[in-house]
Amino acid sequence: MKLIITLILLCAATAAAANPFPNGNAQTGQKLFEQYKCNRCHAAMLGGDGSAIFTRPDRKVHNAKELLEQIEVCSGNVGASLTPQEKQHLGAYLNRYYNLK
Ligand code: HEC
Repeated sequence: MKLIITLILLCAATAAAANPFPNGNAQTGQKLFEQYKCNRCHAAMLGGDGSAIFTRPDRKVHNAKELLEQIEVCSGNVGASLTPQEKQHLGAYLNRYYNLK
């Protein structure tokens, strides 16, 4: 069991190294995203589970800097004060939609 967990962590670390959020962990980001119910407004706006906001044609985010800025803006929406580390986690998670390099 320990070996499996180590392998998963290693894979996550390797995958993270290839994206613009090297210090973020996508799985931790997903947990934060769910914990803060980040998609609740996005879902009200666009229907579905709300993640269409990240793939809409006129989306706002085009690079890692803009993504971190939008995460900061939206963290105000959930009344959260996210640490830089948490923003990295969320960036790493949301990059599944953006594929930023
Ligand atoms: C109170 C409602 C609300 C909540 C809660 C919320 N958001 Fe948003 N979010 C918005 C709105 C509104 C927009 C669209 C902004 C625009 O188009 O100018 C948006 C857009 C975004 C975008 C940019 C999408 C694009 O166009 O590329 C990201 C990324 C994002 N939100 C992340 C988050 C994260 C992460 C959280 C949780 C910490 C969160 N949001 C919680 C309202 C919310």
